[in-house]
Amino acid sequence: MRSFVIGGAGFIGSHLVDLLVERGPVTVFDNLSVGREEFIAGPLSSGRATLTVGDALDLDALTRAMGGHDVVFHLAANPEARWGLERTRLDLEQGTIATYNALEAARLVGARRFVFSSSGTVYGNTSDVCAEGDLGHLPISLYGASKLAGEGLVAAFVECFGLQGRIVRFGNVVGKRGTHGAILDFCKKLQQHPDHLDVLGDGRQHKPYLHVTDCAAGLLYVLDTTGPSLDVFNLAPPDTTTVAQIAELCVAASPNPAARIVFSGGAQGWRGDVPVSRMNAGKLRALGFSLRHTSDRAVGLAVREVAAEVFGAR
Ligand SMILES: NC(=O)c1ccc[n+]([C@@H]2O[C@H](COP(=O)([O-])OP(=O)(O)OC[C@H]3O[C@@H](n4cnc5c(N)ncnc54)[C@H](O)[C@@H]3O)[C@@H](O)[C@H]2O)c1
Repeated sequence: MRSFVIGGAGFIGSHLVDLLVERGPVTVFDNLSVGREEFIAGPLSSGRATLTVGDALDLDALTRAMGGHDVVFHLAANPEARWGLERTRLDLEQGTIATYNALEAARLVGARRFVFSSSGTVYGNTSDVCAEGDLGHLPISLYGASKLAGEGLVAAFVECFGLQGRIVRFGNVVGKRGTHGAILDFCKKLQQHPDHLDVLGDGRQHKPYLHVTDCAAGLLYVLDTTGPSLDVFNLAPPDTTTVAQIAELCVAASPNPAARIVFSGGAQGWRGDVPVSRMNAGKLRALGFSLRHTSDRAVGLAVREVAAEVFGAR
């Protein structure tokens, strides 16, 4: 198996590459806008992975680099959903067009299997526990809209050009080598201002948090499922963790455990942010995949990991 990972030097991608190199050669294609070469230093130095620095918006470069690979994982995207509030083309380009390019390159080079990293944001603003078919509410952020558009493109390429497509909707992913997200954000804020932590919203927002090692294992697992040529999976624990819990854990792990937490108030962190998300991942579980961590455990572990990266070992 020769794998091609677009966005493979990023947070989730680098953990996936750690597993993929056990199965055969891996090419990481990344523009290093957010990802870092050091995240894949082990696989690179072992000779089992190579890095091509390039942009998924450059279809020619992407197609050239993808030649000779059987399996494509597409993980590149705008890293911060809220950036869409300021730059309204960002998700169109880095989400929808980059996904089109990834699929078109796969079609041109004859790669047969395509795995797309989607998100629970496609379920929109609902507190229902959503299974894969529950798309009654539409996304409320430009990031979520681009994920839904990307899913549509995957479905169309599968139907029209005979690829095998796997769409995986993650909960919020946490762990080592994080490039963004609440835990990293809180730890960095506490590093700058050790006496207090400003938190958007009232702290009662709650979502399922998925440890990055479970995310990478799930991405690999779906590749081996023998279902229809297009299949969609939720990948998230059944429980949720509140923003207040995350803030308290980050403060406790910081050099000043007496720091005050200051909530800005309101149910939503920022416009477009879904305050409550709950996902039913029973479909993947029924196929034999189990997560190692609940949401609370994933957050507890990730806070220790990220705090060690930000504050140093204590
Ligand atoms: N982290 C989460 O909580 C989460 C949740 C749901 C879905 N996802 C999705 O999972 C995927 C990976 O997310 P992540 O958290 O690892 O983010 P990340 O930003 O760490 O990784 C994305 C990688 O893609 C690269 N990249 C971005 N634009 C590119 C481009 N145009 N061309 C080439 N490379 C490009 C970046 O340099 C980075 O290495 C994304 O598609 C994201 O939307 C993430």
